[in-house]
Amino acid sequence: MTKSTQARLLRAARQASTRAYAPFSKFKVGAAVLTTSGRIFSGCNVENNSYGLTVCAERVAIFKAVSAGQRDIRAVLVYVDTPKLTAPCGACLQVIGEFSEDPEVILSNGRSTKIYRLRQLLPHSFKL
Ligand code: THU
Repeated sequence: MTKSTQARLLRAARQASTRAYAPFSKFKVGAAVLTTSGRIFSGCNVENNSYGLTVCAERVAIFKAVSAGQRDIRAVLVYVDTPKLTAPCGACLQVIGEFSEDPEVILSNGRSTKIYRLRQLLPHSFKL
C-alpha cells in the first residue's frame, strides 16, 4: 500500500474515533477498512448499558463495507490514542478473516505504526 493510502486510512480511523460511543470504558477506537476496489469505510466502537452488546470499531467498519456490497478487504487500520498500540480483539480478527485471506492489519496511535498480516495475529482461525 502506498504511504498516501495509509495516511488516508489513518485520517479516516482517527476521525471515526472521535465519534466513538464509549461512556463506560472511555476507550475510543477508530477503524478504517480498505477494500480491493480502493474504497474506505470507517467505524467506531459503540457501547451499551448492557455491556455485552458493545460492538468494536473494526466490526462496525467491516459491516459498513459489506452492507455497501464491498466484501473484499485489503487492509484494516485500527487507531487508538494510547501509548501502546492496540491490536484487534480475537472476535474482530475472525470477522476480518471472513472477508479476505490475509489482509494487512495496521495498528496506529498517530505517532507510531506497526503493520501485520492477519495470519500473524490469528494463525488458526475457525473454519466450518
Ligand atoms: N474495542 C474495539 O473497538 N476494538 C477492539 O478490537 C477491542 C476493543 C472496544 C470495545 C469497547 O468499547 C472498548 O474498546 C473497551 O473494550
